[in-house]
Amino acid sequence: MKVSVTTIPLEELDVDILLIPCAEDQRDELIERLAELDPSAVDARRDFGGALGDSVVVYPGGLRATRLGLFGLGRESAVTADTLRKGASTAAAVASKCHADTVAIAVPDSDIDDEAASQALVEGFLLGSYRFDRYRTEKREDYEGPQRLVVHAAGNDKASRRGAERGRVVSEAVCTARDLVNLSPDEKTPQLLAKEIEKLAKKYGLDASTWDKALIEEEGMGGLLAVNRGSPEPPTFTVIEWRPESATNDRPVVLVGKGVVFDTGGLSLKPTKDSMDAMKSDMAGAAAVIGAMEAIARLELPLYVVALIPATDNRPGENAYVPGDVVRMHSGATVEVLNTDAEGRMLLADALSYAKTYKPQLVIDVATLTGAAVVALGSEVAAVMTNESEGAEERLKLVHGAGARSGDLVHPLPMYGHYDDQLKSDVADMKNVGGREAGSITAAKFLERFTAYPWIHLDIAGPAFLRSAKPYRPVGGTGFGVRLLVEVLRDISARASR
Ligand code: BES
Ligand code: MN
Ligand code: ZN
Repeated sequence: MKVSVTTIPLEELDVDILLIPCAEDQRDELIERLAELDPSAVDARRDFGGALGDSVVVYPGGLRATRLGLFGLGRESAVTADTLRKGASTAAAVASKCHADTVAIAVPDSDIDDEAASQALVEGFLLGSYRFDRYRTEKREDYEGPQRLVVHAAGNDKASRRGAERGRVVSEAVCTARDLVNLSPDEKTPQLLAKEIEKLAKKYGLDASTWDKALIEEEGMGGLLAVNRGSPEPPTFTVIEWRPESATNDRPVVLVGKGVVFDTGGLSLKPTKDSMDAMKSDMAGAAAVIGAMEAIARLELPLYVVALIPATDNRPGENAYVPGDVVRMHSGATVEVLNTDAEGRMLLADALSYAKTYKPQLVIDVATLTGAAVVALGSEVAAVMTNESEGAEERLKLVHGAGARSGDLVHPLPMYGHYDDQLKSDVADMKNVGGREAGSITAAKFLERFTAYPWIHLDIAGPAFLRSAKPYRPVGGTGFGVRLLVEVLRDISARASR
């Protein structure tokens, strides 16, 4: 979708629909002002209260726009960037319903600055317009959704331009992640996923290279190889680098994404219904990292960032790893595998161990790691954990702030030392499961053992993939984590240049 910003008067906007945000308690005043431009605007009072999710369309005569639509924001005092995103996704549904090709959306006069407001509106509109129809035989021929979005800036148009452009780039990156998650598993084997990453890297000026199985063996990535043993497809390990000349840091931020392209559970097989049937999404962490790399390259963020994507599927093939196997990991530590379905931590541990070679200032891993995170926090909030080292509180604050700004919400879980006791093994340095209690935390405690640097762990098992739609998040892959990571990295970069 093309996105632009304009400051011409509202009544001169020549579009199929002009969409205006409206808070509940501003409804009458706003409609009166619009009625000065066109008397038919008073009709908008019918069936429209201004609640979030509300909308109305009228056919004015006095505007250049063919249609005038209002979309609700709820109470004015409660309006946030995320309200604007949600409202704008309703606006996208309205625009689609009336088959609009060209759409204008007005930036409201609010406490939110014009840059953030424009970004949020563009994100809500673009993310709300997302459709995945790769596998539909009957394509939509008559109408393919809105083609052009004009943001009407009332206040600071320079700021609006910056925000709208960032909103477009970030939304497209979120959609890249959604597409990857929604892709049929047979089209995203580790090698095909690696090809896709290399294609994107080339397009956006990132460096990418993929290790094949022989190299992975040479590096001693025992965790990744163990998980891969039941699969007919070889594993891959892809490294993506963004190192612009403008970078202010020598020690990179390293992102690690769980790339389990399909998780059957292995020999500890999952049941199909409401479990294995969603496991094409088990590479959503990798997808979030890939999307974030796309976005920072296109935004030319002056920060040195490396992404690591260990990829395999987890299957109960003939040669599959079995409960009881002891695996020597990349770090040299040994792991007693007691459940082959706790596979994510096996490959993440190898990637985290390898990340040390970069002497990173910070490592962030993103993973659909535990069902326990879904039980604890539901499908709209990711769990965040960090190692108990210097700066832990700052790191949690950093992620929490980025979550609030981006709408990719996170909440911390504790990392007390005693949780580590649950990983004690009778035969090896540790086991790969910690029992029924505190499953998300023991998974994080397992990973912590492979870190030796400031580290943040994001368990996105809940919000990565939805079975019922949420505002601006469709059924299926949500692209959760892309906006969160971009905000975290922007924040780190801004601090470094201060
Ligand atoms: N990929 C799953 C976690 C998951 C569950 C993601 C639900 C998305 C939705 C992970 O590999 C897994 O199977 N975890 C196990 C760990 C257990 C065996 C310790 C789990 O959560 O049941
Ligand atoms: Mn699993
Ligand atoms: Zn998994």
